[in-house]
Amino acid sequence: MVEGAKNNGADVKYIDLYTYDFKGCMSCFACHLKKNSENPLCFWKDDLKEVLQLCIESDAIVIGTPIYYGSISSSAQAFLERLLFAADTYVLDEDGNRVSKIKKEIKTAMIYTMNVTKEMDYFNGEDQLTIMRGYLTAIFGECESLYVYDTKQFKKYDLYLNNMFDPELKEQSKEVQFPKDCKKAYGLGERLAMSNK
Ligand SMILES: Cc1cc2nc3c(=O)[nH]c(=O)nc-3n(C[C@H](O)[C@H](O)[C@H](O)COP(=O)(O)O)c2cc1C
Repeated sequence: MVEGAKNNGADVKYIDLYTYDFKGCMSCFACHLKKNSENPLCFWKDDLKEVLQLCIESDAIVIGTPIYYGSISSSAQAFLERLLFAADTYVLDEDGNRVSKIKKEIKTAMIYTMNVTKEMDYFNGEDQLTIMRGYLTAIFGECESLYVYDTKQFKKYDLYLNNMFDPELKEQSKEVQFPKDCKKAYGLGERLAMSNK
Protein backbone atom coordinates (compact mmCIF):
# COMPACT_ATOMS: atom_id res chain seq x y z
CA MET A 1 0.00 0.00 0.00
CA VAL A 2 2.82 2.36 0.96
CA GLU A 3 4.68 1.65 -2.29
CA GLY A 4 1.53 2.08 -4.37
CA ALA A 5 0.88 5.46 -2.80
CA LYS A 6 4.51 6.65 -2.94
CA ASN A 7 4.96 5.60 -6.55
CA ASN A 8 2.00 7.78 -7.42
CA GLY A 9 3.34 10.90 -5.80
CA ALA A 10 1.95 10.65 -2.27
CA ASP A 11 4.00 11.71 0.71
CA VAL A 12 3.49 8.72 3.01
CA LYS A 13 4.24 8.41 6.70
CA TYR A 14 4.30 4.82 7.91
CA ILE A 15 3.52 4.59 11.63
CA ASP A 16 4.02 1.47 13.74
CA LEU A 17 1.62 1.89 16.66
CA TYR A 18 3.54 -0.69 18.71
CA THR A 19 6.40 1.79 19.05
CA TYR A 20 4.12 4.39 20.71
CA ASP A 21 3.08 4.43 24.34
CA PHE A 22 -0.62 5.26 24.46
CA LYS A 23 -4.00 4.25 25.78
CA GLY A 24 -7.51 4.17 24.35
CA CYS A 25 -10.11 6.87 25.00
CA MET A 26 -10.35 7.71 28.71
CA SER A 27 -13.80 9.38 28.47
CA CYS A 28 -12.46 12.74 29.65
CA PHE A 29 -14.99 14.34 27.23
CA ALA A 30 -12.80 17.44 26.70
CA CYS A 31 -13.30 16.93 22.95
CA HIS A 32 -17.09 17.01 23.34
CA LEU A 33 -17.24 20.28 25.27
CA LYS A 34 -19.16 22.97 23.36
CA LYS A 35 -16.15 25.30 23.62
CA ASN A 36 -14.07 22.69 21.72
CA SER A 37 -16.57 22.16 18.92
CA GLU A 38 -14.03 23.20 16.28
CA ASN A 39 -11.17 21.05 17.57
CA PRO A 40 -11.08 17.50 16.14
CA LEU A 41 -7.90 16.49 17.99
CA CYS A 42 -7.95 14.33 21.12
CA PHE A 43 -6.96 16.39 24.17
CA TRP A 44 -5.18 13.58 26.02
CA LYS A 45 -1.42 14.20 26.13
CA ASP A 46 0.57 11.07 25.36
CA ASP A 47 2.64 9.64 22.53
CA LEU A 48 -0.38 9.32 20.27
CA LYS A 49 -1.04 13.05 20.08
CA GLU A 50 1.49 13.64 17.27
CA VAL A 51 0.10 10.67 15.32
CA LEU A 52 -3.47 11.95 15.65
CA GLN A 53 -2.35 15.44 14.59
CA LEU A 54 -0.76 13.97 11.45
CA CYS A 55 -3.93 12.00 10.70
CA ILE A 56 -6.28 14.96 10.79
CA GLU A 57 -3.89 16.99 8.62
CA SER A 58 -3.59 14.22 6.01
CA ASP A 59 -5.60 13.44 2.87
CA ALA A 60 -5.92 9.73 3.63
CA ILE A 61 -5.55 7.37 6.57
CA VAL A 62 -4.95 3.63 6.17
CA ILE A 63 -5.06 1.36 9.20
CA GLY A 64 -3.49 -2.06 8.92
CA THR A 65 -4.34 -4.50 11.69
CA PRO A 66 -4.04 -8.20 12.39
CA ILE A 67 -7.20 -9.95 13.51
CA TYR A 68 -6.87 -11.04 17.12
CA TYR A 69 -9.65 -13.22 18.51
CA GLY A 70 -12.05 -12.21 15.80
CA SER A 71 -11.50 -8.48 16.11
CA ILE A 72 -9.03 -5.72 15.28
CA SER A 73 -5.94 -5.57 17.54
CA SER A 74 -6.21 -3.70 20.85
CA SER A 75 -3.71 -1.09 19.56
CA ALA A 76 -5.82 -0.43 16.46
CA GLN A 77 -8.95 -0.25 18.63
CA ALA A 78 -7.31 2.20 21.09
CA PHE A 79 -6.00 4.33 18.23
CA LEU A 80 -9.42 4.43 16.53
CA GLU A 81 -11.22 5.35 19.76
CA ARG A 82 -8.94 8.36 20.14
CA LEU A 83 -9.07 9.34 16.46
CA LEU A 84 -12.82 8.94 16.03
CA PHE A 85 -14.29 10.24 19.28
CA ALA A 86 -12.49 13.60 19.15
CA ALA A 87 -13.68 14.23 15.59
CA ASP A 88 -17.18 12.89 16.28
CA THR A 89 -20.06 14.67 18.05
CA TYR A 90 -23.42 13.76 19.53
CA VAL A 91 -25.02 16.35 17.26
CA LEU A 92 -27.37 15.20 14.50
CA ASP A 93 -27.92 17.18 11.32
CA GLU A 94 -31.37 17.60 9.74
CA ASP A 95 -30.99 14.23 7.96
CA GLY A 96 -30.24 12.48 11.25
CA ASN A 97 -26.52 12.02 10.50
CA ARG A 98 -23.87 12.67 13.13
CA VAL A 99 -22.07 15.97 12.59
CA SER A 100 -18.33 15.46 12.14
CA LYS A 101 -15.78 18.11 13.12
CA ILE A 102 -13.75 17.15 10.03
CA LYS A 103 -14.73 19.58 7.33
CA LYS A 104 -12.74 18.14 4.39
CA GLU A 105 -12.98 14.57 3.14
CA ILE A 106 -10.14 12.35 4.40
CA LYS A 107 -10.29 9.02 2.58
CA THR A 108 -9.77 6.02 4.83
CA ALA A 109 -9.07 2.30 4.49
CA MET A 110 -8.72 -0.72 6.72
CA ILE A 111 -6.41 -3.66 5.91
CA TYR A 112 -7.12 -6.77 7.96
CA THR A 113 -4.70 -9.71 8.02
CA MET A 114 -5.69 -13.04 9.50
CA ASN A 115 -4.70 -16.64 9.85
CA VAL A 116 -7.98 -18.26 8.90
CA THR A 117 -9.24 -18.96 5.44
CA LYS A 118 -12.66 -17.60 4.53
CA GLU A 119 -14.07 -21.12 4.72
CA MET A 120 -12.86 -21.99 8.25
CA ASP A 121 -15.40 -22.42 11.05
CA TYR A 122 -13.40 -20.09 13.27
CA PHE A 123 -14.18 -17.16 11.02
CA ASN A 124 -17.36 -15.28 11.92
CA GLY A 125 -17.59 -13.36 8.68
CA GLU A 126 -16.48 -10.00 7.37
CA ASP A 127 -19.62 -8.37 8.77
CA GLN A 128 -18.21 -8.35 12.28
CA LEU A 129 -15.36 -6.15 11.07
CA THR A 130 -17.44 -3.52 9.32
CA ILE A 131 -18.34 -1.43 12.38
CA MET A 132 -15.21 0.74 12.33
CA ARG A 133 -15.59 1.09 8.57
CA GLY A 134 -19.00 2.69 9.17
CA TYR A 135 -17.64 5.17 11.70
CA LEU A 136 -14.61 6.02 9.55
CA THR A 137 -16.89 6.71 6.59
CA ALA A 138 -19.26 8.87 8.62
CA ILE A 139 -16.59 10.92 10.38
CA PHE A 140 -13.71 11.12 7.86
CA GLY A 141 -14.66 9.88 4.40
CA GLU A 142 -15.17 6.88 2.18
CA CYS A 143 -13.56 3.76 3.70
CA GLU A 144 -12.28 0.79 1.69
CA SER A 145 -11.60 -2.58 3.29
CA LEU A 146 -8.99 -5.12 2.26
CA TYR A 147 -9.23 -8.60 3.81
CA VAL A 148 -6.08 -10.70 3.72
CA TYR A 149 -6.79 -14.33 4.68
CA ASP A 150 -4.63 -17.36 5.36
CA THR A 151 -1.44 -15.51 6.27
CA LYS A 152 1.68 -17.51 7.05
CA GLN A 153 2.14 -16.87 10.75
CA PHE A 154 5.33 -18.80 11.59
CA LYS A 155 8.49 -19.19 9.55
CA LYS A 156 8.90 -22.77 10.81
CA TYR A 157 5.59 -24.33 11.79
CA ASP A 158 7.26 -27.46 13.21
CA LEU A 159 8.69 -25.41 16.11
CA TYR A 160 5.24 -24.44 17.37
CA LEU A 161 2.24 -26.11 19.04
CA ASN A 162 -0.02 -26.58 16.05
CA ASN A 163 -2.12 -29.13 14.26
CA MET A 164 -4.76 -26.72 13.00
CA PHE A 165 -2.79 -25.23 10.15
CA ASP A 166 -1.09 -27.33 7.49
CA PRO A 167 2.45 -25.93 7.00
CA GLU A 168 2.48 -26.93 3.32
CA LEU A 169 -0.81 -25.18 2.61
CA LYS A 170 0.47 -22.12 4.46
CA GLU A 171 3.62 -22.13 2.31
CA GLN A 172 1.46 -22.39 -0.82
CA SER A 173 -0.68 -19.52 0.34
CA LYS A 174 2.45 -17.42 0.97
CA GLU A 175 3.72 -18.18 -2.54
CA VAL A 176 0.45 -17.87 -4.45
CA GLN A 177 -2.09 -15.80 -2.51
CA PHE A 178 0.12 -13.37 -0.60
CA PRO A 179 1.61 -11.71 -3.73
CA LYS A 180 -1.97 -11.25 -5.02
CA ASP A 181 -2.97 -9.61 -1.74
CA CYS A 182 0.10 -7.37 -1.86
CA LYS A 183 -0.91 -6.36 -5.37
CA LYS A 184 -4.38 -5.42 -4.08
CA ALA A 185 -2.75 -3.38 -1.30
CA TYR A 186 -0.51 -1.68 -3.89
CA GLY A 187 -3.65 -0.86 -5.90
CA LEU A 188 -5.29 0.61 -2.81
CA GLY A 189 -2.29 2.91 -2.25
CA GLU A 190 -2.34 3.85 -5.92
CA ARG A 191 -6.08 4.71 -5.83
CA LEU A 192 -5.75 6.81 -2.69
CA ALA A 193 -2.82 8.76 -4.12
CA MET A 194 -4.57 9.33 -7.47
CA SER A 195 -7.82 10.44 -5.84
CA ASN A 196 -5.96 13.20 -4.03
CA LYS A 197 -4.20 14.56 -7.10
C1 LIG B 1 -3.21 -12.96 20.03
C2 LIG B 1 -3.52 -13.47 18.66
C3 LIG B 1 -4.83 -13.76 18.31
C4 LIG B 1 -5.16 -14.16 17.02
N1 LIG B 1 -6.46 -14.38 16.69
C5 LIG B 1 -6.79 -14.68 15.41
C6 LIG B 1 -8.15 -14.85 15.03
O1 LIG B 1 -9.07 -14.75 15.80
N2 LIG B 1 -8.41 -15.14 13.72
C7 LIG B 1 -7.41 -15.25 12.80
O2 LIG B 1 -7.70 -15.49 11.64
N3 LIG B 1 -6.11 -15.08 13.14
C8 LIG B 1 -5.78 -14.80 14.41
N4 LIG B 1 -4.47 -14.60 14.75
C9 LIG B 1 -3.45 -14.64 13.69
C10 LIG B 1 -3.14 -13.26 13.09
O3 LIG B 1 -4.31 -12.53 12.80
C11 LIG B 1 -2.39 -13.42 11.78
O4 LIG B 1 -1.22 -14.14 11.99
C12 LIG B 1 -2.08 -12.09 11.17
O5 LIG B 1 -1.76 -12.29 9.84
C13 LIG B 1 -0.96 -11.40 11.94
O6 LIG B 1 -0.15 -10.70 11.09
P1 LIG B 1 1.37 -10.44 11.51
O7 LIG B 1 1.85 -11.72 12.13
O8 LIG B 1 2.02 -10.10 10.22
O9 LIG B 1 1.32 -9.30 12.46
C14 LIG B 1 -4.12 -14.28 16.05
C15 LIG B 1 -2.79 -14.01 16.42
C16 LIG B 1 -2.48 -13.64 17.70
C17 LIG B 1 -1.04 -13.32 18.05
